[in-house]
Amino acid sequence: MTAAEAEAQQRRWRALVDERLPAAAAAHPDWPVSRNHCFARILLDNACGGPWRESVAPPAWANMPPERLDLALSLGEAVLAGRQDLAVLNHRSLVWRRKLRLPPAPLSLPGEDFSLRRWQLADDEPFAALCADPEVMRFFPAPKTARESQTEARALARRFDEDGFGPWVVETAEGFSGFVGCWRPSRPLPLGPLIGQETGLVEIGWRLAWPAWGRGFAVRGARLALADVFSRCALTEVVAYTADLNAPSRRVMERLGMSEVGGFDHPGLPEGHGLRPHRLYRLAAADFMAADATAANVLAGDPA
Ligand SMILES: CC(C)(COP(=O)(O)OP(=O)(O)OC[C@H]1O[C@@H](n2cnc3c(N)ncnc32)[C@H](O)[C@@H]1OP(=O)(O)O)[C@@H](O)C(=O)NCCC(=O)NCCS
Repeated sequence: MTAAEAEAQQRRWRALVDERLPAAAAAHPDWPVSRNHCFARILLDNACGGPWRESVAPPAWANMPPERLDLALSLGEAVLAGRQDLAVLNHRSLVWRRKLRLPPAPLSLPGEDFSLRRWQLADDEPFAALCADPEVMRFFPAPKTARESQTEARALARRFDEDGFGPWVVETAEGFSGFVGCWRPSRPLPLGPLIGQETGLVEIGWRLAWPAWGRGFAVRGARLALADVFSRCALTEVVAYTADLNAPSRRVMERLGMSEVGGFDHPGLPEGHGLRPHRLYRLAAADFMAADATAANVLAGDPA
């Protein structure tokens, strides 16, 4: 970017936060802020994925890397065009700045013909049946015993208390149908060379009973879960990975708009094991939220 282009970009930024957004606020009593420095805080934080002062010296308009200022500008333009919910962006900024406590996880999230809900002890039996099914577990090293499944169910349910989010039970007309949702990986994975980061990751995953396959529960359930973690929990990115061979799971990742980043060998499987080669995908909150209006609805306080 030439010096003249950088200057033009900075002028656009100042016009956006000093004039256009405050002027538009008069017509938007629902907006959580109306002053120029608040608009700047919200847009800059969201462009940086955290409080902007942690990565940029003030004044931000002069020191922000041009590509990030560009992202802040496009977020602001999207707010003006009604394509981006300012309340959601503000919520994320305040959570990052610890001005707002993370609202507790709801008890359920409604879908059209299914819901995501928290775990119950009564799920042990159908979950054990699901994890003992060789068809469901064909891309895992082995099916699980009832005891292993019960331990896993307890650990999955506890995630909501530990992290504020977790894998939800998928409840369909047939009752318990598996799970979909986000969690922090419990083992370190060799992802540094692929995404430059090995800690602080959040992954999304799914496991459904076979009668629930092909009905969109994985994709639609994942969208609900993503809207929740990206809005209520203010996460900036999630990753997903699966065995190279697991085409159905990779298809879900692709339908969610996740980008394939590359391959790695799963450290939990021995050299030469057919399931050891894995593919990694990632999804940025900004990309998801731009494409999914559900994020705003989840934050607006859908049911507990
Ligand atoms: C991976 C897994 C969850 C994918 O399930 P799935 O049934 O293929 O995924 P969905 O439920 O989202 O279904 C998607 C399909 O349903 C279709 N569908 C039907 N009704 C739909 C609706 N109302 N909305 C959206 N999609 C719908 C979609 O078109 C899509 O088909 P397509 O991929 O041919 O386009 C499932 O195969 C599974 O549980 N496997 C075993 C466990 C496992 O491997 N987990 C992953 C470990 S990493």
